[in-house]
Amino acid sequence: MRHAVIMAGGSGTRLWPLSRAARPKQLLDVVAEPGGGAHSLLAEAFERLEAVLPAERIWVCTAARYGDQVRAALPRLRPDRLVLEPVARDTANAVGLAAALVAEADPDAELAVVSADHVIRPVERFAATLSTAFDALAARPRALVTLGITPTAPATGFGYVRRGPATEVPGVAEAAAFKEKPDRATAEGYLASGEYLWNSGMFVWRARTVLDALADHLPASAEGLARVVAAPAGPERDAVLAEVFPTLPKTSVDYAVLEPAATEPGRVLVADLDVEWLDVGSWPALAQTLAVAGDNAVSGLAVALDSAGNIVLSDEPDHLVALVGVRDSVVVATRDVTMVCPVSDAERVKQLLAAVEERF
Ligand code: GDD
Ligand code: MG
Repeated sequence: MRHAVIMAGGSGTRLWPLSRAARPKQLLDVVAEPGGGAHSLLAEAFERLEAVLPAERIWVCTAARYGDQVRAALPRLRPDRLVLEPVARDTANAVGLAAALVAEADPDAELAVVSADHVIRPVERFAATLSTAFDALAARPRALVTLGITPTAPATGFGYVRRGPATEVPGVAEAAAFKEKPDRATAEGYLASGEYLWNSGMFVWRARTVLDALADHLPASAEGLARVVAAPAGPERDAVLAEVFPTLPKTSVDYAVLEPAATEPGRVLVADLDVEWLDVGSWPALAQTLAVAGDNAVSGLAVALDSAGNIVLSDEPDHLVALVGVRDSVVVATRDVTMVCPVSDAERVKQLLAAVEERF
């Protein structure tokens, strides 16, 4: 049967000080609703999957520390579909753990893996492409399918997939190569060639297939995960998980599985995902989900006079942010931190946080 798992254990450091280790971006209510109000990226990811699958086959994999917040954000998540990692070991291990548990529940499971930090419109087109990707597994049961997006910039924070020969499924091609987070010059070359798509960070494969791929390309992780699921579910398994998981090699599924697998002809496929897609990884990206007030993107209590191009956010109900004559800046006020930077320096917030952590 078809299942899906949402990867929701990242920490979103470039959205500091709104996104904190204790409450990362996927759990913040940042997506404005037309009638006012807002909801989280995670809730949106869950609803998006409900267009394709019943709630009982949607899983969430996250760090144990976020368990309660995830349950609160997702009332329809079945308690036994929440997979909790004792520590974050990046997505290779998160995907592996989730796949092992899904395979235990349903040995022939076909599994979609999606991110928790995307805004996607329209949902109907996403649903249709996800179904197409599942359909591709009928003809190619051992395939690793990634959903690809037409790139619009030489972004260095994404993976790139080179489109190869078409398959028998319309909209799905073989991937001729996969490169995770290339440097700028390489990304520019990819964009100019017109042959590459961005890896959306969403995949479809059989749970067994991705476990086999891990065994081929990251055996230490596959062996550790096999030990975990060999233990009976309950306290015994939790104890093995707590012992083994922190020792697994920390790497992402893109580096560990997709890059090497794509060197095998026909192993990786790419399905064209033709949607408006936003990876909400930085302040300018997040601004696109906020309400626009005048010439600024605003969330919370704010007044802006003769100011434009700003991203203004007050995270406290009674904390007013007031601007006059300010341009192209990010101004974020939270209970204990105020952060100001030019929009053009938004990528450096990660660095800023590192400097803050060094001092405090
Ligand atoms: N459970 C769990 N555990 N989830 C995690 C972990 C972890 O240790 N680390 C990250 N995640 C979640 C994040 O919350 C996010 O939803 C998703 O996995 C992807 O992780 P990111 O850290 O945001 O990855 P990225 O943006 O650098 O790169 C990935 O996504 C890009 C598109 O958004 C890659 O797949 C790229 O190839 C892709 O282009
Ligand atoms: Mg991301």
